[in-house]
Amino acid sequence: MPAVIRPYHPSDLPSIYRICLLTGEVGGDATSLYRDPDLLSHLYAGPYPVADPGLTFVAVDELGLVGYIVATADTARFEQWLEEAWWPTLRARYPLREDPRDGTEDHALVQRIHDWPRADPALAERFPAHMHIDLLPRAQGQGLGRQLVETLSAALRERGVPGVHLGVDDRNQGAIAFYHRVGFTLGVQHQWGRTLTLDLS
Ligand SMILES: CC(C)(COP(=O)(O)OP(=O)(O)OC[C@H]1O[C@@H](n2cnc3c(N)ncnc32)[C@H](O)[C@@H]1OP(=O)(O)O)[C@@H](O)C(=O)NCCC(=O)NCCS
Repeated sequence: MPAVIRPYHPSDLPSIYRICLLTGEVGGDATSLYRDPDLLSHLYAGPYPVADPGLTFVAVDELGLVGYIVATADTARFEQWLEEAWWPTLRARYPLREDPRDGTEDHALVQRIHDWPRADPALAERFPAHMHIDLLPRAQGQGLGRQLVETLSAALRERGVPGVHLGVDDRNQGAIAFYHRVGFTLGVQHQWGRTLTLDLS
């Protein structure tokens, strides 16, 4: 069965967490970087379908979930929701900690849980939505990424959202090429990577 795209169902959440980890290091497997396998997804996947399940879509083949796109329509409101509903419990669960200097990066994500970097308000005004997309290696290169972006774009347009942005690590050249192929353009160049934007108007 070729993979199909469908709306998110709450039973998808564990697979979304797993795929986030398996694609979390510049598009590759991040498992060896984190002692806690859930931590990365607590920041970059989990909160989106919990906050707004209508803006998560998944790709499914005969073996199960192979990819997802998660998004928020309004980054500023989402950041407020994170402060009220998402971070407090995680801040209690993950107290700040030192770098154990063993190659693991949990401490860096924990630091971000306690001090989440806010989106640039000027950017969030023109491109209020933001998104993350990840597909397992076996599902890449078959047009599913494009279908997921198009599905999300249609859902955002239906809500009258004028644009979407995302952040990508400069080392992830494959993803950058993909985003440009599906219509994103450079928004801001940072030291860590770049913000890309897609006009939906
Ligand atoms: C990046 C990713 C989402 C792309 O999805 P995909 O399903 O593999 O891409 P598609 O098959 O839909 O490709 C769409 C277009 O992008 C191009 N493209 C996709 N991956 C590419 C790559 N690595 N290099 C160059 N072009 C690429 C395709 O050639 C295609 O072009 P066309 O439609 O004009 O012919 C997917 O490969 C992935 O999840 N990678 C690992 C996780 C990751 O890096 N996520 C992004 C983190 S910011």
